[in-house]
Amino acid sequence: MPRHFKRIRDLGYEGAWKLLQRAKEMKDTAHRGKIMDGKTAILIFEKASTRTRVSFEMAVRHLGGSTIFMTPAESQLGRSEPLRDTARVLSRYADCLVVRTFGQSKIEELAEYGSIPVVNALTDEGHPCQVMGDVLTMYERTPDLSKVRVAWVGDGNNMANSWIEAAIYFPFELFMAFPEGYEPDRDLLGYAMQAGAKIFLTHDPRMAVDGAHYVNTDVWASMGQEEEQKKREAAFKGYRIDDALMALAAPDAKFMHCLPAHRGEEVTDEVMEGPASIIFDQAENRLHIQKAILEWVFSE
Ligand code: CP
Ligand code: NVA
Repeated sequence: MPRHFKRIRDLGYEGAWKLLQRAKEMKDTAHRGKIMDGKTAILIFEKASTRTRVSFEMAVRHLGGSTIFMTPAESQLGRSEPLRDTARVLSRYADCLVVRTFGQSKIEELAEYGSIPVVNALTDEGHPCQVMGDVLTMYERTPDLSKVRVAWVGDGNNMANSWIEAAIYFPFELFMAFPEGYEPDRDLLGYAMQAGAKIFLTHDPRMAVDGAHYVNTDVWASMGQEEEQKKREAAFKGYRIDDALMALAAPDAKFMHCLPAHRGEEVTDEVMEGPASIIFDQAENRLHIQKAILEWVFSE
């Protein structure tokens, strides 16, 4: 059975910690390896990407492999060839699929029918590579994650879901503020809390940010939700991260965003450019975590 990275939960407790430490080691040593020597990863992207695409392309090169980039517009994916057929065909050519798509069920289908590892490069339900990279960004600053309080302010979207999964394995406290009707996956929340995740929910952004060491947000309308933009702008009014909100956080608190950001919507330009912002460290860490993820899927 190939090893898939469809969500953070695939790692298990030990796997999650090992991945984090390995990514840090790879970063510290500017790792170049051979684990993908002679191997090819096919990147299937049904949504736009800058960071995820390029960091995976570079990570594969750093590990000795090569990549092929595919989009629906230029392949039979856009002409309704069944995913289960695509999975079986591509498994005959390549060694790994890195997939950015809409429903998580598409990732599941590719994994079920293919015979090579599938890595989730973002779905509507999760963004596990990003959040593992974000945990690395906190970990390198605050190795004792049990002393860390994280605030999530905004949509209960793919990023929020993956933060909830991360909180199962990493001992930070996660204070999350959503507008009513924009809460994250209820089943996932229940599962995580039962598994010991320290998650606190509110509708008040100030309560979530109060005393936080890391303040996180994301766009109000994710890819695929563009037609809801206006409705969401109204719903998320009051959830913008600005200097006044950041002032409630712990002294020396950091601001995090997976990017791309909509300045003036979920965050002000001042916060993005201010001294608390660690957004480009987060972006860099995508490269290091992707290398550790690829090594993990190939080291079974
Ligand atoms: N954060 C992130 O996944 O960025 P891209 O959409 O540019 O890949
Ligand atoms: N929630 C955002 C994340 C982008 C990296 C989206 O899905 O569009």
